[in-house]
Formats: sequence, C-alpha cells, structure tokens
Amino acid sequence: MKLAKLIIAASLFVVSVSANDVLQNSMSTMEKGMTQIQKGFLNNNLDLIKEGTKLVKEGNILFSDAKVINQYLPDNKKHMVNVAENASKRISLDITELEANLDNKAFIKAANSYSDMLNACSSCHSIVRNW
Ligand code: HEC
Repeated sequence: MKLAKLIIAASLFVVSVSANDVLQNSMSTMEKGMTQIQKGFLNNNLDLIKEGTKLVKEGNILFSDAKVINQYLPDNKKHMVNVAENASKRISLDITELEANLDNKAFIKAANSYSDMLNACSSCHSIVRNW
C-alpha cells in the first residue's frame, strides 16, 4: 500500500514537472523567435525574420490547446480560457500574415504583423499576471 502511494506520488510529480516543461519550452522558444524577428527587422535581415517566425510557430503550437492553457490559468481566471486561447490563435494568424507579407515584399505590413503578435503575447500575459 505504501509503495503504491509512493508510485502514485512519483508519477504525479513527473506529470506536473513535464507540464511545466511545456510552458517553459513554449515560452522560451517564442521569446527567442520574437527577439530574432525584431533583430531581423532592425537589421534588414530576412533570414533572421524567417527563422524567428518558425520558432514562434513551434512554440505557439505547444501552447495552443485550451486544455493545456487552462492548466496555467489561476483559478480566478479559468473562465477566461477562451480569451487566452484566442491570443494563441491570433499569433498563429499573425504568423501566416507575416510570412505572406514577406513573400510579397510588403515589409511594413510584415512589421505590423510582428507588432500584432507582440500584442497578442501581452493580451494573454495580462490575464495570468493581473496587468
Ligand atoms: C495563451 C496564453 C499565452 C500566450 C499567447 C503567450 N504566453 Fe507567455 N506566458 C503564459 C503563461 C501562463 C506564462 C507563465 C506565467 C507568467 O510568467 O506570468 C507565460 C510566461 C512567459 C515568459 C516567462 C517565462 C518564465 O520562465 O518565466 C515569457 C518569456 C513568455 N511568456 C513569452 C511569450 C511570448 C514571446 C509570447 C508571444 C509570442 C507569449 N509568451 C504568449 C501564457 C501565454
């Protein structure tokens, strides 16, 4: 019996650790991507913008499912999971838009897609952080 409890406790621990990994993986990947995109726009380096966009896409996919997002919302904010999920959808739309704008060499528009993406990050963070 004791051993069973220990095993359950251990497996719960593993689950919560790997859940944290998802958040950290996703956020640090997106942060890296956003920094690269910004650097790319400032230095007129298209490859850097494209690489950064790929990273944001990767990170956003990890944190786009409402069930996953819900795990990280404080109890008094769980009712806002749809708003949070929409922020992730907005990032995904911005990525598509940014890539299309780059292909069309519409760089100002592409930079605007980047800005909108940054606003989407803040709109979810404002929920979790009580901004
Ligand atoms: C759907 C919600 C959501 C979206 C969208 C979102 N984040 Fe986060 N982010 C979180 C949560 C939850 C945390 C952890 C709580 C906190 O730091 O306040 C977090 C934390 C972070 C952190 C700090 C991580 C740490 O280890 O403390 C960074 C950096 C970050 N996010 C970057 C980004 C970037 C860049 C974007 C946009 C491209 C973004 N996030 C979009 C929910 C989101």
